[in-house]
Amino acid sequence: MVNVLVTGGAGFIGSNFTKFALTEHSDWQITTLDKLTYAGRLENFEGVKNEPRHTFVRGDIADPTIAIPLVEQAEIVVHFAAETHVDRAIMTAGDFIKTDVYGTFVLLEAARNAPKLRRFIQVSTDEVYGSVEEGTSRETDELRPRNPYAASKAGADRLAYSFWATYGMPVIITRVSNNYGPNQFPEKVIPLFITNAIDGCAVPLYGDGLHVRDWLHVRDHCRALDLLIANSEPGEVYNIGGGHEVPNLELTQRILRLLNQPDSLIQHVKDRPGHDRRYCLDTTKLRRLGWRPTVDFAEGLADTVAWYQTHESWWRPIKEGDPAFQSYYQEQYDHRS
Ligand code: NAD
Ligand code: DAU
Repeated sequence: MVNVLVTGGAGFIGSNFTKFALTEHSDWQITTLDKLTYAGRLENFEGVKNEPRHTFVRGDIADPTIAIPLVEQAEIVVHFAAETHVDRAIMTAGDFIKTDVYGTFVLLEAARNAPKLRRFIQVSTDEVYGSVEEGTSRETDELRPRNPYAASKAGADRLAYSFWATYGMPVIITRVSNNYGPNQFPEKVIPLFITNAIDGCAVPLYGDGLHVRDWLHVRDHCRALDLLIANSEPGEVYNIGGGHEVPNLELTQRILRLLNQPDSLIQHVKDRPGHDRRYCLDTTKLRRLGWRPTVDFAEGLADTVAWYQTHESWWRPIKEGDPAFQSYYQEQYDHRS
């Protein structure tokens, strides 16, 4: 069996990847290491709870007593664990530095002594390039992160690279655009707007709503990672982007239409400080390896809306039953309107 360590596997992308990989690779034994922060949910393992090829370990990647033994037995490490929400980083960024930067260091340091390690995938983000007013970001472009989350991810991205350059470790870095799909925590724009709109509540659109994101279905992201685990060069960076550039206003209108809700639910609110106007990735390098996004954006968005409509038992306890989410929502949105 191939020992695979997935960090942050109880989160949105990590859980989708774990389920995808268990289906695709009957010879993979996957260990998930996750701290179960507010964003990590055991319910995300629905369907693979009794799978003997999957083990869940609750723990902090920044704790060497937990991380070292797990990393040392791994052949493949897919490192998703992070604090991920830009708006929370703008409120206070300490946890982002602890997890995204220091936690990544602990894993990399442990990986130096992993005798069978074949690949360490550092899952980075298109946000490290900063706002791209026109054109596309290539892997060789300068990094210009502009918010504390993006800066912490840029730190981790370059730290991972340095462990290849210095110690020759089999590290690759992926920079990925905005993901969407099932099991995304309802603080991010798509699940937040879908779940608000299901209840006929206002959707808080930042600023003029003309900021652009490049949407990638999480399944296409999983396929890209799977390809890169098998076919990539250590020390290289790979952009993974969906090629679906959509301004936030259009995205919001599409969601409202899918739910038969009126545009009057759109509430233009105070903008995010330092709000990056646009991200857009050049994915030529990955496409040369044979990858293409396969999920059409209109279909993927309709499926995602349908998933939240049929999985109220997943998101209502967060939005309605979790006082921490409610106080976050108040702190984040009350001053905006
Ligand atoms: P998420 O917030 O849904 O999940 C993060 C997971 O990490 C959670 O399960 C959480 O419990 C876990 N975690 C946090 N701190 C931890 C710690 N100290 N130790 C162990 N586990 C910890 O995030 P996501 O959207 O699934 O993102 C996964 C990765 O992909 C992140 O590295 C993120 O930066 C990157 N990324 C995400 C997107 C996106 O659109 N969602 C785009 C680009 C890059
Ligand atoms: O680009 C990749 C990044 O995508 C990842 O690295 C991050 O982890 C992930 O959270 C995501 O960051 P964004 O800031 O782009 O995602 P978010 O869903 O927070 O916001 C998407 C856009 O929607 C952004 O332009 C801000 C806007 N927005 C967001 C929220 C939460 C609103 O207009 N209103 C909102 O309430």
